[in-house]
Amino acid sequence: MDNEHNYNNEEEKYLTTNQGQRVNHTDDGLRAGQRGPLIMDDHHFREKMTHFDHERIPERVVHARGSAAHGIFEAYGGLEKYTKASFLKAGKSTDVFVRFSTVVGFRGSADAVRDVRGFATKFYTDEGNYDLVGNNMPVFFIQDGIKFPDLVHAIKPEPHNEMPQASAAHDSFWDFISLMPESMHMIMWVLSDRALPRSYSTMEGFGVHTFRLINEEGKSHFVKFHWKPTKDMASFVWDETQKIAGKDADFNRRDLWESIEMGNYPEYELCLQILPEEDEHKFGFDILDATKIWPEEMVPLVKAGKMTLNRNPDNFFNETEQVAFHPGHLVPGIDLTNDPLLQGRLFSYLDTQLLRLGGPNFAEIPINSPKKPVNNNQQEGFHRRGNTGKVNYFPNSRATGCPMMAPASEGGYVHYPEPVSGVKTRERSEGFKDFYSQATLFWNSMTAVEKQHIVEAAWFELGKVTEMAIRERVVEHFARIDSDLANRVAGGIGVAPLSPDKVEVLQKEQAEFVDRIWKGRLI
Ligand code: HEM
Repeated sequence: MDNEHNYNNEEEKYLTTNQGQRVNHTDDGLRAGQRGPLIMDDHHFREKMTHFDHERIPERVVHARGSAAHGIFEAYGGLEKYTKASFLKAGKSTDVFVRFSTVVGFRGSADAVRDVRGFATKFYTDEGNYDLVGNNMPVFFIQDGIKFPDLVHAIKPEPHNEMPQASAAHDSFWDFISLMPESMHMIMWVLSDRALPRSYSTMEGFGVHTFRLINEEGKSHFVKFHWKPTKDMASFVWDETQKIAGKDADFNRRDLWESIEMGNYPEYELCLQILPEEDEHKFGFDILDATKIWPEEMVPLVKAGKMTLNRNPDNFFNETEQVAFHPGHLVPGIDLTNDPLLQGRLFSYLDTQLLRLGGPNFAEIPINSPKKPVNNNQQEGFHRRGNTGKVNYFPNSRATGCPMMAPASEGGYVHYPEPVSGVKTRERSEGFKDFYSQATLFWNSMTAVEKQHIVEAAWFELGKVTEMAIRERVVEHFARIDSDLANRVAGGIGVAPLSPDKVEVLQKEQAEFVDRIWKGRLI
């Protein structure tokens, strides 16, 4: 769409004020004399300047730097046994809008940094908007939403001097991590080349949490969502990112934009790991724990469809900046679980968007609106546009036409009737407390070169940490993952290698713990 003014069009020929009054002169303020002060009569000046003064909105509290594209999702079908979601039915095409992001940096920071990447997709389905708000790594730092503010405070620049920008290589972050062993699996991913994607079209995406699929009969299966790029995966090496971040801060953004302009469209297959409810407790990890993957050898991927990103946004602010994703934007056939991280997210996104997008009506911004009618009794509030009719309450006997509630058979959303009981507690079950096994699994799956990259990343990151006690604590965690990892990292950051006896004690502790908790489970 061409958004430029068309000066040949009689209606658009002249600049106007916000009131539509044609402007005769916009280059000089109205003054009392050629060398005099501005005068209050100059409403055009005040309107123009006031609007400019209010142009900025708060950037996202995390994932502030993003780049986005429109596209289409085409479903392969064959999943009716698991889900009734209409956009996953064979042959169905659904418009999407995808925003990729870094997490830590400010809106104007560089793309080529060591960081997690956001991979958020809005599906404009015929049953309403469905958001899959994921990352390019399949696990997360923490297990419970209540720790998210601490994680983000620790990873962002330190509060007294706002350093370092867009980097986690500092005391606060590693202090927090060293005291938060549940982060160890994610730390392995973050130190690996996965944190340096060469292009958004060569990285994977993950829904991270365990969700549910619900079929027509109301039966539930657990599910994890994956995006697999159709291009090979590719990452930078660290030295490349250092140069690119300096030479072209927009490297990934430009790559996304130019690929689409050239018709070289990024493509991803949506793949699902599906687990019967009966298998919930079969594994050596809790499936509600977002610091764990489901190994693909145990729960294979099923292909659900292909997404092609084929159109750049018309306007960065209107679309990329104002889009509002939410993990609770669901459609019939997809539901939540009690993953304590996911539960925390359900509160956070709407809350932050009320502030970031100026009040309760941001769903009316075109990029956020579903591509189907919205029909409820909400009204008024800042920037409201869609007030209609004379009846604004339910039930009522005065509105004409059909009732406003849809039964499940007509697409009304019904929450999965999961039985819930328990005592109020802040305790998590023991099943969440194996912090190291999957970190070891990850380390062992790396090639020699990939392992060396992880070690060098740890040297760089921990080498910036000024307090030796923090470095030592992290090395001790690494020793529970793998003694070679711990010793190689220690050697590069001035920490004395742990004695073989100490390593044996740590690893024995870990093995005994896992044995006690997970005896007889699959892994
Ligand atoms: C953005 C909170 C965990 C992926 C955000 C935003 C907040 C937030 C407040 C800014 C939203 C906005 O301004 O529109 C949280 C909390 C979490 C959490 C409280 C843990 C309890 C996660 C996890 C993932 C994730 C586990 C990945 C699965 C994203 C993405 C964005 C985002 C991709 C950017 C969305 C966009 O492009 O607009 N998060 N987050 N977050 N979060 Fe989370």
